[in-house]
Amino acid sequence: MRDYFMNKQVEKIIRKADWTSPSNIAFIKYWGKYGNQLPSNPSLSMSLKNSTTRTIVLVIESRDKPAFQFFFEGFKESTFDKKIDLFLKNAYNFFPSLQNKSLKIESCNTFPHSAGIASSASAMSSLALCICEIAEEKSSNYLNDAEFYRKASELARLGSGSASRSVYGGFSTWGKTSLLENSSDEWATFLDFDIHPVFSKLNDAILIVSSEPKKISSSEGHQLMNNHPYAKERFKLAHKNLECLLKAFQSGDTEEFIRVIENEALGLHSLMMSSDPAFILVKPHTLEIINRIIDFRKKTGLFLCFTLDAGPNVHLIYPDSIKSKITDLINSELLAFCENRKVIWDEIGEGPVRFTSENVKI
Ligand code: PMV
Repeated sequence: MRDYFMNKQVEKIIRKADWTSPSNIAFIKYWGKYGNQLPSNPSLSMSLKNSTTRTIVLVIESRDKPAFQFFFEGFKESTFDKKIDLFLKNAYNFFPSLQNKSLKIESCNTFPHSAGIASSASAMSSLALCICEIAEEKSSNYLNDAEFYRKASELARLGSGSASRSVYGGFSTWGKTSLLENSSDEWATFLDFDIHPVFSKLNDAILIVSSEPKKISSSEGHQLMNNHPYAKERFKLAHKNLECLLKAFQSGDTEEFIRVIENEALGLHSLMMSSDPAFILVKPHTLEIINRIIDFRKKTGLFLCFTLDAGPNVHLIYPDSIKSKITDLINSELLAFCENRKVIWDEIGEGPVRFTSENVKI
């Protein structure tokens, strides 16, 4: 990652927090919400290792009215101001003392800005972790780890629902379910579960079909679920699929894993296509890649499957043990359908990292 944080600070820094947090890919999709960013069904995702956002929040001395400044990849960036302003208003409800502080927020991604992969999960979770660290450091009863991450997850959720799951590594779930103790609509929890070794090192090759910005935002998509004719059945199915996936995770049933993951991916996009107004995010090359993945699986019997986010890019999920075979498949057959032959090689990650003066030179 280029170091965008080396510019000389002229202000007096009162406090500093510095976190890197990952993007995640949902296996059980969150699509539809109610109230203040609460999910209509539980979701489950895998945190990634390489697609991350690093955010630094500085509390600076200022004689002016408390305010924030935001820099993205080294430049003052005002297009995100509205989102950050809203996020900070939510943060002030959690931590009222923050209101009197002037904040300088600097952020950068490991993946290109217009790579076609959503950055809201990594961006909002890294910002939430920084804010929680800054707000809590002063208090004498510094939150213990589990509580700290729960609070960060709750705050991240208010910025972007899927960001609530990015404060953990491995697999995490968000949304109330009778299947998991401590599950909540308000925050995500780490999936503390005996997962069969066949799923222990999953890779995610993100095949970039298009890096164009989406014509419809996730927020608009979630809203369309409010009057969606299939909403009730969809929310029921998500619970059922979560149950099937958890069982497959325990037993090592890869066929069942594939069935659920692909059902969720195609289900998500069929909800979009049956919304009113309808919208289509997949492209012809998305379908071409999906069909080739299915054919290759039929031919070889290997454990690989696809999933989709709210966009045209295909996430190819497979265990590390068949990496070379999948690399061959991608290079020989799938790259031709990717924009500029672009693929982001990622894998399951261990979650956010906090930088301190001990582990990084700033
Ligand atoms: O977090 P949002 O509001 O960008 O919505 C994310 C929706 C999906 O990525 C399609 C599914 C999910 O659970 O991450």
